[in-house]
Amino acid sequence: MQEPRVDRSLQPEELTQRDRGPKPFLKWAGGKNQMLKNLEHHFPRRFSKYYEPFLGGGAVFFSLVEKYPPFDAVLSDFNEELINSYQVVKTNVEELIGILKVHKANYSRRAEKYYYHVRKQRPFGSVEKAARLIFLNKTCYNGLYRVNQKGEFNVPFGTYGNPRILDEMNLRSVSEVLNYTRARLVTADYEDATKDASKAISSTLTHHINR
Ligand SMILES: C[S@@+](CC[C@H](N)C(=O)[O-])C[C@H]1O[C@@H](n2cnc3c(N)ncnc32)[C@H](O)[C@@H]1O
Repeated sequence: MQEPRVDRSLQPEELTQRDRGPKPFLKWAGGKNQMLKNLEHHFPRRFSKYYEPFLGGGAVFFSLVEKYPPFDAVLSDFNEELINSYQVVKTNVEELIGILKVHKANYSRRAEKYYYHVRKQRPFGSVEKAARLIFLNKTCYNGLYRVNQKGEFNVPFGTYGNPRILDEMNLRSVSEVLNYTRARLVTADYEDATKDASKAISSTLTHHINR
C-alpha cells in the first residue's frame, strides 16, 4: 500500500531543532559514540532509507540525522522495553515528560529508596514503562541494562550527585526526528528486521541510476 505523502521540506523552526542535534536519550553499553569518527568514512554519500538493526542508544542514527539530508528509518532491536521507549518518545513525548518530572522530584527527596521502589514496580502502560526505563537507566549503576531469568531489572543503585533524569529539550528533539524520519520501530532479531533491506537498497540504486 502506498504511504500518504508527507511534506518534509524544512520549516525554519524545524531547522533550529535539528541544528540543536538530538542525542541518545539512554546510556547504552557498547554505544558507538566514541567510534563515530572512525566509522563515518564508511558511510555512503547518499541514501534514502536507513536500517539500524542493533538500535541500543542510537548513536549512529542520531549522528546521521544531523549530517544527512532527510531519510526514512527502520529502527529495531530485540529488546522490547527499549523499542517501547523509542515508540513512546515518538508518539507521546509530553506525557512521558510529565511522568519523568514526578520521578525526578521523588528522587531528589530520597534517591536510593525511591530507586528501589521504582525498580520493583511493574507498570502496565507503555508510557509508564518507558518513563521507568529512562529513570532506571539514568540512576542505576553505570547505566547498565541487565535483567534476571524472570526478566526483572536487577542493576543496583548508582551513586550520582545529580543524574540527568529529564532532558526535556532533547526528548522533544528526538521525538521530532523519529517523526521526521517516519521511523518504523520494530522489536525483532536483526535477521528478521533486515529481510527487506537489500530489496530497499537495490530499488534505491535503480531509482538513482534511472534518473
Ligand atoms: C551496542 S548496542 C548498539 C549500539 C548502537 N548501534 C549505537 O549506534 O550506539 C547493541 C544492541 O544490539 C541489541 N542486540 C543484540 N543482539 C541482537 C540481535 N540478535 N538482534 C537484535 N538486536 C540485538 C542489544 O539489545 C543492544 O541494544
